[in-house]
Amino acid sequence: MAILQLNDIRKTFHPGTVNEKRALDGITLDVDAGEFITIIGSNGAGKSTLFNAICGSFAVDAGSITLDGRDITDMPDYKRSYDIGRLFQDPMKGTAPHMTIEENMALAYCRKASKSFFAVNKKDSAYFRELLAQLDLGLEDRMKTKIGLLSGGQRQAVSLLMSTISDPKLLLLDEHTAALDPATAKKVLGITVDIVEKTKTATMMITHDIRAALELGTRTIMMDEGKIILDIKGEERAGMTVDDLLNLYSRESKKQLANDRMLFSTQKE
Ligand SMILES: Nc1ncnc2c1ncn2[C@@H]1O[C@H](COP(=O)(O)OP(=O)(O)O)[C@@H](O)[C@H]1O
Ligand SMILES: [Mg+2]
Repeated sequence: MAILQLNDIRKTFHPGTVNEKRALDGITLDVDAGEFITIIGSNGAGKSTLFNAICGSFAVDAGSITLDGRDITDMPDYKRSYDIGRLFQDPMKGTAPHMTIEENMALAYCRKASKSFFAVNKKDSAYFRELLAQLDLGLEDRMKTKIGLLSGGQRQAVSLLMSTISDPKLLLLDEHTAALDPATAKKVLGITVDIVEKTKTATMMITHDIRAALELGTRTIMMDEGKIILDIKGEERAGMTVDDLLNLYSRESKKQLANDRMLFSTQKE
């Protein structure tokens, strides 16, 4: 069953002006429970705008959005946020820097348990410690450390725990490793896969790393000019190389690959 259904979503910014931009041009997509979709596409393709539409950052011009069987097209963003976890490129976003790791996790957890977060009880604390220990970053012994003092990678790892601790229906990752150095990015990607597999949360992950897009997850979507131009899974995806995907990009987008070489980094380690 589809956990998320997007039906012909459209969004044009600044319509009728010189700055008119058709950012989403008829997006139709079903995301099944347990799917882990990676999303690629050049700068300005509409990837982040797609996430904004799903989260309700703006009203879409046309189309409908259904989450777990419920039409959320007109639901305000703060209500959707209970069901949708989201991470950004900037590790500073999404956490309260002056609060401790434990307090941040309690804040995320109390959404589900509807508890007073100021009273972190022993049971919750033990649970947070257990989750942190699974990250294998030693953070279980630093639960009283302010989140603002953590490195970007540590912070993204804690953010991943926070955004999945209340059992969201959907997890949206918007280039959440792009600001990290390659080794840390790889580690956080590994943690991402572990958490997604363990929590079985339907996940959409935007990445500029085509290799990671093909190697991680169960399905890959390519966007260009507000449209989905490629959607692969199963055997077709399993047999695809980075070069195949780049060739498909130039064929489908009718653009020269050279123009996008900078935007599609395929870093090797
Ligand atoms: N709030 C906004 N107001 C005006 N234009 C926007 C807004 N958000 C995105 N856009 C434009 O929509 C297009 C798609 O942007 P975006 O979704 O951020 O691309 P990306 O695929 O790189 O994430 C870009 O041309 C961007 O400038
Ligand atoms: Mg973006």
